[in-house]
Amino acid sequence: MASLTIRRLDDDLKQRLRLRAARNGRSMEDEVRTILRGAAGGKDVRGPAPQLVTEPRARAVAAEPRPDIPRILLIIGGGIAAYKSLDLIRRLKERGAAVRCILTAAAQEFITPLSAGALSGERAFTDLFDAQSEFDIGHIRLARETDLVVVAPATADLMAKMAGGHADDLASAVLLATDRPVLIAPAMNPHMWNHPATRRNLAQLAADGIAQVGPNEGEMAEAGEAGQGRMAEPLEIVAAVESLLGSAGDRPLAGRRVVVTSGPTHEPIDPVRYIANRSSGKQGHAIAAAAAAAGAEVILVSGPVDIPDPAGVTTIKVETAREMLHAVEEAMPADCAIFAAAVADWRVSAPGREKIKKGKDKVPVLSLTENPDILASIAQRKAKRPQLVIGFAAETEDLIANARAKLARKGSDWIVANDVSPATGIMGGDRNRVHLVTAAGVESWPPQSKDEVARALVTRIAAALQGGSQWTGSKSA
Ligand code: CTP
Repeated sequence: MASLTIRRLDDDLKQRLRLRAARNGRSMEDEVRTILRGAAGGKDVRGPAPQLVTEPRARAVAAEPRPDIPRILLIIGGGIAAYKSLDLIRRLKERGAAVRCILTAAAQEFITPLSAGALSGERAFTDLFDAQSEFDIGHIRLARETDLVVVAPATADLMAKMAGGHADDLASAVLLATDRPVLIAPAMNPHMWNHPATRRNLAQLAADGIAQVGPNEGEMAEAGEAGQGRMAEPLEIVAAVESLLGSAGDRPLAGRRVVVTSGPTHEPIDPVRYIANRSSGKQGHAIAAAAAAAGAEVILVSGPVDIPDPAGVTTIKVETAREMLHAVEEAMPADCAIFAAAVADWRVSAPGREKIKKGKDKVPVLSLTENPDILASIAQRKAKRPQLVIGFAAETEDLIANARAKLARKGSDWIVANDVSPATGIMGGDRNRVHLVTAAGVESWPPQSKDEVARALVTRIAAALQGGSQWTGSKSA
């Protein structure tokens, strides 16, 4: 069908058409198509047809996603790198993507909606409070009718707005409203990039699961300025888009094998007594579930817990640290190993074969032996070491210093540190506040549910395994 252009209608008719389209949740063009289709088929086209949003043919023309055509919503921020975004549109279109653009007010200082629209083949959107845009499509549909949102260039200001959850213009409102994956391509002056405020915002965006490509090192547009801050080249952004959308899509760990330890261990004193700790297994189990949801083959080695086995995960139940080590070794090789278990550091050297009886005047003295360190033994493997080894540090004092020491001592790539002092309620609770400690530094994530921590961690793991992340600081990624 030839494309439709709605012009030369008198204002009253236009307004009525707009209202009718808005009522039916369609663009004006789709509304006209529906009316024409109805007229051609002899249907009554006068009245509103509220249920038409679900009418199959109308949906096919309007918002129905075509699985073979990836839809990219490109948000163009205001920076000199915006001119590269025009090339990015071309590159994405060449690869068969449908591209829809939003330009911030600042972006329009560098490029025009006309050029973005001409290249994308669709009008570019600019204004949250533009009645026509809202009637035509609306910011919520802009946020949803896409497979991936790309922000390029992502300026320091746009990143700050995203990190803060602002929604005072079309771009930020759409970013807040979207439930689709988001990729940012930052571009800014190196001083702005290195500013603590930008570092904080980046850490927040990473914790929110937002993927990043670039920035690169090099000359800046400003004379005499050089450093990290140049927007990634269009083809690099296309590669990041492909890896986020590609075979992985929302299963970024498809084809990966992940081993997770979780829960406490029980070290027997005799057949009825044991040494244990207060770990619930909630965080480790949530990580296993999130990795499975992201498409990984997951082997969960769990100590004794009172929570259900996660769906879609192979759970191996163990009691002691030595059994846990054996099960983890059996589960190798893996792409990633995450050690969330609170393994007992010691076991009783000679547990009683029978229940130890109370003697009249003797109190038993337990002699302890150190348990094997499962994390260290896997992290320090010479052969078949997982690409990414992640430990946890459960501390009650000097959290970051102890976590850094563990990172070095155990040879893991990352340590997820949390304060398990009783006052935090983390041990056994549903929420967690973690700090991601890597060779590159420390990122403090906001307090969130253990499921949210798990999802954010899995997003980071996927990015690190793909080698696309700039903020992992992993030795192996
Ligand atoms: N860990 C392990 N095997 C052990 C002890 C710990 O795999 N025998 C792992 C934990 O699963 C966690 C990390 O090592 O990922 C740190 O555990 P933690 O209990 O915080 O530290 P410890 O090694 O026990 O050191 P410390 O007792 O000094 O805190």
